[in-house]
Amino acid sequence: MSSMRLTGTPSWLSIRRRAAVPHCGDTGLGDRPGPARRIWAIGGGKGGIGKSFLAVNLATVAARTGCRVLLVDADLGGANLHTCLGMRSGDRVNLSDYLQDRVVDLEKAAIETPVPGLRLIMGTLGHTGTAETSREQREHLFQAVSELPVDIVVFDLAAGASRATLDFFLETDEGVLMATPEPTSIENVYAFLRGAFYRRLARAMSTSPIRDLVRDAMDRRNECGIRTPIDLLQEIDRIDGDEGSRFRQVLHEFRPRLVVNQVRNSEEVKLGFSIRSVCRKFFGIDVEYVGYINFDDSVWRSMKECRPLVLAYPQSDAALYVRRIVSKMLGT
Ligand SMILES: Nc1ncnc2c1ncn2[C@@H]1O[C@H](COP(=O)(O)OP(=O)(O)OP(=O)(O)O)[C@@H](O)[C@H]1O
Ligand SMILES: [Mg+2]
Repeated sequence: MSSMRLTGTPSWLSIRRRAAVPHCGDTGLGDRPGPARRIWAIGGGKGGIGKSFLAVNLATVAARTGCRVLLVDADLGGANLHTCLGMRSGDRVNLSDYLQDRVVDLEKAAIETPVPGLRLIMGTLGHTGTAETSREQREHLFQAVSELPVDIVVFDLAAGASRATLDFFLETDEGVLMATPEPTSIENVYAFLRGAFYRRLARAMSTSPIRDLVRDAMDRRNECGIRTPIDLLQEIDRIDGDEGSRFRQVLHEFRPRLVVNQVRNSEEVKLGFSIRSVCRKFFGIDVEYVGYINFDDSVWRSMKECRPLVLAYPQSDAALYVRRIVSKMLGT
């Protein structure tokens, strides 16, 4: 299906063609000295739904506003951001080199891309490195990333909800969940969200009996009848009020963003609102629906040409929707 303009969409999602994308200085980031200020991660569970496409294009738009942007290909084992940017992996330094101490300075792994202002830390393809990372390695990486002199870091995550992927999602300031209007993708997004929330919660609880309770609750067939975070909160409140307060804090701070991709009609646009309501009602989690992207032939054309959509087809509808998501994320 070729590109199309969606009609009947909610007013806050209406397209505004911008004469120019705002400069990074307009975001309030440009004039603040110091290291990485915003760290985004694109996840969502299911494979092949457009996570890498979004990561590359968000990063490109942000770089075009004048921000110093770093893309990190955290899809270890299935890395392909370099290809999306028209680069060859060759024998360049990649994330595995850093994780396995072959490169000590992370900055050396951040290579220039054809997009001015955008650097990339390449991931690895299965045969050239390992897809496994330990918790210590991930923490070390996050520490190093947050010290780099850049404005925005964008992590592209692997499919699935492995511990490593959930940790990458949780460590960032802003995790973006991506879903497409298909039952399998929607199911995966809920599973991912649930896994991420419980993982974050288990870390926040300070007493081990409560941590055990959280771990039990993660098993949907747990015997204490806990089905949702709300059930769990009631149980924790009953046992330990302080831990209950910590739980509320986690609920309050956990605010993933949501993007619905490959939308074909205005009905599908509403999926984002349904997911948001379900998360609120059953999980007590506030998800922010930051926008959707239509199904657009320009996307796969740009992927085939190994160029970011926003540069290859800047006037396409999908490029407009991507730019609008960046504006929303940057609050401009
Ligand atoms: N909005 C869209 N319109 C049309 N095609 C799209 C759109 N978004 C993504 N695609 C297509 O979907 C395919 C998969 O995209 P991408 O590689 O970004 O997915 P992914 O979620 O990163 O997959 P993986 O989990 O395997 O890394 C690409 O071929 C791309 O062209
Ligand atoms: Mg990908």
